[in-house]
Amino acid sequence: MQHSELILVLDFGSQYTQLIARRVRELGVYSEIHPFNLSIEKIRKLKPKGIVLSGGPSSVYAPDAPHSSQELFSLGIPILGICYGLQMIAYQLGGQVDTSARHEYGFAEVLIDNTSDLFAGLNGPMKEGRMTIPVWMSHGDALTKLPRGFEPIAHTNNSPICAIRNVEKKIYGVQFHPEVVHTVQGKEILRNFVFTICGCRGEWNAGSIIDEKVEEIRTAVGSNNVICALSGGVDSSVLAVLLHKAIDDRLFCIHINNGLMRKDESEKVVRLYRDSYHFNLDHVDASDLFLDRLKDIIDPEQKRKIIGKAFIDIFEQEAKKMSTVKFLAQGTLYPDVIESASSKGPSHTIKTHHNVGGLPEKMNFKLIEPFRELFKDEVRAVGRELGLPEEFITRHPFPGPGLAVRIMSDITKEKLRIVREADEIFTEEIRKAGLYESLWQAFAVLLPVQTVGVMGDQRTYDNVVALRAVRSLDGMTADWAQLPHELLARTSSRIVNEVRGVNRVVYDISSKPPSTIEWE
Ligand code: XMP
Repeated sequence: MQHSELILVLDFGSQYTQLIARRVRELGVYSEIHPFNLSIEKIRKLKPKGIVLSGGPSSVYAPDAPHSSQELFSLGIPILGICYGLQMIAYQLGGQVDTSARHEYGFAEVLIDNTSDLFAGLNGPMKEGRMTIPVWMSHGDALTKLPRGFEPIAHTNNSPICAIRNVEKKIYGVQFHPEVVHTVQGKEILRNFVFTICGCRGEWNAGSIIDEKVEEIRTAVGSNNVICALSGGVDSSVLAVLLHKAIDDRLFCIHINNGLMRKDESEKVVRLYRDSYHFNLDHVDASDLFLDRLKDIIDPEQKRKIIGKAFIDIFEQEAKKMSTVKFLAQGTLYPDVIESASSKGPSHTIKTHHNVGGLPEKMNFKLIEPFRELFKDEVRAVGRELGLPEEFITRHPFPGPGLAVRIMSDITKEKLRIVREADEIFTEEIRKAGLYESLWQAFAVLLPVQTVGVMGDQRTYDNVVALRAVRSLDGMTADWAQLPHELLARTSSRIVNEVRGVNRVVYDISSKPPSTIEWE
């Protein structure tokens, strides 16, 4: 898809690269990430209004360090180098980078030497006759000699040159990270680059792409039919509604109840999509098959494999009934796309979740992936624009293998009942407290231990439920949520009283890393 304004981000392997693109998009300008070695020819074709060189873990002088092409700097396109990106500019244009005497990690105070263009409109206390702003640093090397034609525009007590510019060539660099929230005025700095320096107008937003996507889908699909696995999660819900807008009753949705979903989840999906939206919806209750195949299985990886395989088997069987279907729609998101692209570049792939892994190759479907360019919060924006009920849009993420990864032992109907009811109570209390939307996820886990309790005059020997609630921006890192004690107390008391088989509730106070969000 051709966007009228694009800010191109070249990835040198920073863990924050995605954040750069997200911040730019939040400013209303479409932004895309490509590997650092994207050819000049391709860059020209993309016609970016500006280029951001990301940070990265290397030292510019290391033997295998990623380098940009010299030509990049004579294209006449404005450039902003961040951290390693700044050092790259210096390295390529004749400056000098050395290992700093003191590494800077975390908060630093930057003194702004020039408050025009890149740093215009910032606020901060004055020190030594300069405005100061708090920033986030993460670097070992530092710039020690300016490249020719450049001037310094900021410094810290450790780095005499912390930001540079060449106004004539429109090349800028900062040692700190404006894209992370800890650099409080970072967004203002990016705004100055994108609007003042690159001259963007900022007319992009996720919702505004609906009409173009609808057209794109219609053109790709022609008069064919499309199949879509509809779990009821945010991505598949928004995907189905968008497809329905584009091709109406040539969309065939399959909803598979694997028996591992949250309370009443499957029923809600069917009610909304079949009864209210009148989609062609094939609702398959395969709970028994899934539970049969999972019998006595304890190992989480084995559980995941069995569930994935069973899903494909059933999907395949249902899809065969619709022999006229040529296309499969998937809710692949931008982070999956960039992760796989940059595995060729310096970024390390962390984890990719594929929605319907293996299906397209196995069944000869052609793929439709309208969200390949979008981040999760942007998919939510599309969903809102399409009028999907808020409950489906703000729903916490839920793993594909469902409650199977929240039962720390073999899976039985009885255990599913316990974890489901406990989960429902916790969610209800969080909603009542008005906290649901501020949390990334909140859920219950059933532990494989029984402990002694006393209820009435009776000694009990029953199950332990662990509650987990986390705050996170993208699921990659997460902090455990410091929920109010009254809320935890009420939830614990309700679970013990209302869920048969539980006599103890604990709260998980681990962050990610070192823990993960799910227990398995
Ligand atoms: P972890 O547990 O790795 O989870 O910190 C990060 C995010 O991913 C979700 N998750 C999954 N999603 N299939 C999925 O579709 C899975 O197997 C899976 N495991 C974890 C998890 O809920 C969290 O939001």
